[in-house]
Amino acid sequence: MSLASTFGGARLFNADWQSVESEIGTFDHLITDPPYENHMHVAKAGSRGIRTDGHASPQALDFDSIEGQRDDITRLGSLASGWFMAFCTPEGVAPWRDSIEAAGMRYKRCLFWCKPDSAPQMNGQGPAMAVECYVAAWAGRGHSVWNGGGGRNWTVCPCQPRSRDGRHPTEKPLALMSDIITKFTQPGDTILDPCMGSGTTGVAALRLGRKFIGAERDADYYSIAVERIEAASMEPVDLFAAPGRRVKPQTLQMDVEVAQ
Ligand SMILES: C[S@@+](CC[C@H](N)C(=O)[O-])C[C@H]1O[C@@H](n2cnc3c(N)ncnc32)[C@H](O)[C@@H]1O
Repeated sequence: MSLASTFGGARLFNADWQSVESEIGTFDHLITDPPYENHMHVAKAGSRGIRTDGHASPQALDFDSIEGQRDDITRLGSLASGWFMAFCTPEGVAPWRDSIEAAGMRYKRCLFWCKPDSAPQMNGQGPAMAVECYVAAWAGRGHSVWNGGGGRNWTVCPCQPRSRDGRHPTEKPLALMSDIITKFTQPGDTILDPCMGSGTTGVAALRLGRKFIGAERDADYYSIAVERIEAASMEPVDLFAAPGRRVKPQTLQMDVEVAQ
């Protein structure tokens, strides 16, 4: 039996999501920040080396890359009645699109968020990466719906250090997750994040009056998620957030050409 916590609109599992899939139940949207592609996870923990330019290699992440579970996550996402969204590297957009379409969902767009506190290219040998991607697909029946009208979609995140909890190495800014949830989901909807890390998506969901189901297999990150999401469940819901206007989207900007 998995370790699970339930409080105020949230159900959290300390487990590999695949081992608790039968307990997840129904959900409206799968919005996740899963592990990124293999090239972001290259070095093994404890094997920090010195690069040819004399600097230390970046520290390895302490969880595996997405490759082994991408198709399982899109299969899970195809059970949603609304949106499927997953963060990824630019190199991950094409494999995500292939997997999304193989799972029977409708791939919509690659979207971007601007990351002002992204890592600079310290050696000056090329441009640094200042944005990150996420893919959006519609898993539901009929027309896709969102609350953003016909406008452009581009999130610039304030990213001040104080807006981050700081205990997970790849934590997403709360402002970013709040923006996505406000635009793509409705109050009362249930959002699933099978790779929730320290639970930022869950915090945003509860603050905005949505329900949340999350899984995290690392016990330490799970404890942080429980602490943060439980605290959010005791805060008042943000009544000034977009109330959820169901409109047909005309355009979501910033298409990316994906190699076929
Ligand atoms: C990129 S991090 C998520 C960070 C999160 N957005 C936050 O703000 O804290 C991905 C997380 O997924 C977890 N994970 C990876 N595969 C998993 C699986 N199959 N089941 C549950 N958790 C998983 C990893 O342990 C890691 O903490």
